[in-house]
Amino acid sequence: MLDQRAGAFEIRRNSVWVATRIDHGSARAYVRDSLHDPYEIVRQAALHSIALWRDREAVPELINLLKGVVKIGDVPGVKLAPENYEHSQASLANRRAAAEALGRIGDPAAVPDLLAALGEPKDSKYSDASDQVFQHSLIYALIEIGDAKRLAASLDSQNPRVRRGVLTAMDQMKGGGLNPEVISKNLDSSDLALKETAWWIAGRHPEWGGALAGYFRERLHAKEISQSDKEDLIRRMARFSTAEPVQIMLTELLQDSAPATRPLVLRAMADSKLKKVPESWLKAWTSILESDDQDQIAEAVQTIRVLANPKEPAKALVEPLLKVGKNEKLKAPVRLSALAAVPGGLPEIDASIFAFLQSQLNGELPAATRSLAGESLAHGRLTSAQLIELAQTLKSVGPLELDRLIEAFGQSPDEKVGLALISALKIAPARSSLRNETLKPILAKYPAGVQPQVKELYAALEADKAQQFAKLEQLLANLKQGEIRRGQAVFNGTKASCSACHAIGYLGGNVGPDLTHIGKIRSERDLLESIVFPSASFVRSYEPVVVTTKDGKAINGLIRKDSGDEITLATGVNQEVRIARKDIEDIQPSRVSIMPAGLDQQLSPQELADLVAFLKACQ
Ligand code: HEC
Repeated sequence: MLDQRAGAFEIRRNSVWVATRIDHGSARAYVRDSLHDPYEIVRQAALHSIALWRDREAVPELINLLKGVVKIGDVPGVKLAPENYEHSQASLANRRAAAEALGRIGDPAAVPDLLAALGEPKDSKYSDASDQVFQHSLIYALIEIGDAKRLAASLDSQNPRVRRGVLTAMDQMKGGGLNPEVISKNLDSSDLALKETAWWIAGRHPEWGGALAGYFRERLHAKEISQSDKEDLIRRMARFSTAEPVQIMLTELLQDSAPATRPLVLRAMADSKLKKVPESWLKAWTSILESDDQDQIAEAVQTIRVLANPKEPAKALVEPLLKVGKNEKLKAPVRLSALAAVPGGLPEIDASIFAFLQSQLNGELPAATRSLAGESLAHGRLTSAQLIELAQTLKSVGPLELDRLIEAFGQSPDEKVGLALISALKIAPARSSLRNETLKPILAKYPAGVQPQVKELYAALEADKAQQFAKLEQLLANLKQGEIRRGQAVFNGTKASCSACHAIGYLGGNVGPDLTHIGKIRSERDLLESIVFPSASFVRSYEPVVVTTKDGKAINGLIRKDSGDEITLATGVNQEVRIARKDIEDIQPSRVSIMPAGLDQQLSPQELADLVAFLKACQ
């Protein structure tokens, strides 16, 4: 009998669509009868049609299908008596479409059956993905029906799948009535999916922090809590730290918990992304900075750097950070990052700090170290005498630092400083990395006596460029002698710092593109050009921008994050700048790569050939 009916299923499906276009009771009845069609696709078409018309009369049959029961009758028009129906199992697709139709119709009578379907254990016949899609349809139907009262009654269900669905639905419903108390009961559920859903919902309500504080406190002090659960909880608390009680709790944790837990608390504070750091945190950090625990100091400095708000520098931290910077008993990297973290830049730089910072510019040190030292000097208040001394250092620094250090000279239009700067730049090997955008406004400020020298410098820089093009040709001719192993050493070495920005395999930075397979897509010529003239062309999605702020600063970088009210620019190795959207005047594509130019000046022709051979071998 089935076979006989089968052939015409396409005609029947099309008939359902035709009936869908007809606004008449008989058309609705025809479509409802099609729910008994032996063919899944015909039933599916009927389900969509019923959803479209929101046909309430179909509800009992929709509920049957939702439960997975199909009553197969005859094809529409020739009805069988119900006792002659064949029963069959509805497909997941039919069940899903039935749930969707019930949601659109919005009859609360369907809620118990939707909940029952939600609670069914996952059928091993289906993939995780189709199970999730089915669950999503059920939850969505519950949201559309919007009967929060009936759902609330299931919040205590023993079945975690039901609870998870109900929580999600209530969260998305207008007036769903979900509150932090209900959520807190599920935050430490042993059912992982339920627990994650509860945290996910809570995370969408940072304003619940105050109400959840009691729960956090209780959990943290619970005797049975394992160390890893405790750490997990601290990490998650970051999300709620706009609430004062949570801020206080983090402060207490920082002061009272075991030393091993403290770095974790500091990281949670860093993750809070708070714009205004609470007083109690500043105090707690200060006492860490005044301790002699290097690791904790380092972690605290990191947190301070992440939460730094250039608009409202936390003055209370200036002294403690300076003290760390001056403390010769501490390791150099800890001192250095403390100096770089001083809010608002170093207020004054005494002889010992100046000497220390200069020593950290040494080309043998890692790029991140040099970059921090450069940053501290660039943003510190330097005397004219110090600037003249710094000019001497420019003669030997690499391109990464040069570009940064030059900013320091913006603070003094002193003629002597200007002359020292220009005579240094005339012989600085890294000078071709200087960007006109950075150089011009600084040099323009110097008095008339310096300007003839400025002209000479620009002429020399132009000549450099012409020479570089010629050099590229010559380098290309030399490339054959490159050796891969030596090239790898150059790539990872401190001289060129490639690996500070680029990853190969799982090692390296992420400021620039991953170069693991670069040899596959680029010729030797392209590779060489990328190194010698980084700004000649940009890699897609690494196009730099210039952000102009309302107070007239221009910042060149790559957009790393763009949240509604703030963008984060990567400006160099380990360097990010956060700019509030309201302070931004303009964002324009930039013509200057943040990959420093002139890296080839740091390398011998042999090293360059080795480097290109290595990159070419990265297939
Ligand atoms: C300050 C970070 C930084 C440093 C240091 C750096 N790069 Fe880059 N590099 C970038 C960025 C950003 C891009 C993408 C934008 C562009 O094309 O200029 C890039 C692009 C490249 C490309 C082009 C990739 C492609 O898909 O075509 C190559 C090749 C490359 N870099 C190699 C190097 C080598 C070799 C070194 C060391 C000598 C180095 N980089 C040092 C940031 C850096």
